[in-house]
Amino acid sequence: MNEIALPPVNGDGRQLRRVFTNLLDNAIKFSNKGGAISLVTGISEGEIVIKVADQGIGIPYEDLPYIFDAFHRGKESTKIEGVGLGLATVKAIVEAHGGRVMVESELGKGSVFTLLLPLPQPATKVQERLLPA
Ligand SMILES: Nc1ncnc2c1ncn2[C@@H]1O[C@H](COP(=O)(O)OP(=O)(O)OP(=O)(O)O)[C@@H](O)[C@H]1O
Ligand SMILES: [Mg+2]
Repeated sequence: MNEIALPPVNGDGRQLRRVFTNLLDNAIKFSNKGGAISLVTGISEGEIVIKVADQGIGIPYEDLPYIFDAFHRGKESTKIEGVGLGLATVKAIVEAHGGRVMVESELGKGSVFTLLLPLPQPATKVQERLLPA
């Protein structure tokens, strides 16, 4: 794999850490024993792309529009601990950083959560504005 360093994201590190802990917490608790979990990062079309994928229980198609709503829990999740606030928090934080979060999932196969975050503005532009001509 070609490793590329991602540029630093402008934002609140503590809040962004909550995004990853919530997504990874879900990936782990909605997985079956031995299921692989992956976190992939990259840059595409001027945005930072982060994908958290699992091979867990998946999300029913009819639930997909609601999973980012506060207190929404899938009916197959009731045996698994949680209150239904993780994804609402993820969405609020990502959108506060000018980004988006999307989900693709297939029941019984797994889920992929994709985060898109804006690339930081080049520092030179800021300096140009601050320095007198
Ligand atoms: N990776 C996943 N695989 C399968 N279902 C998921 C996954 N992530 C979220 N869900 C579904 O979306 C619902 C909402 O997720 P969310 O993280 O908001 O709540 P929770 O994990 O149930 O509780 P909390 O995050 O507050 O502990 C979950 O209850 C579950 O039904
Ligand atoms: Mg959760």
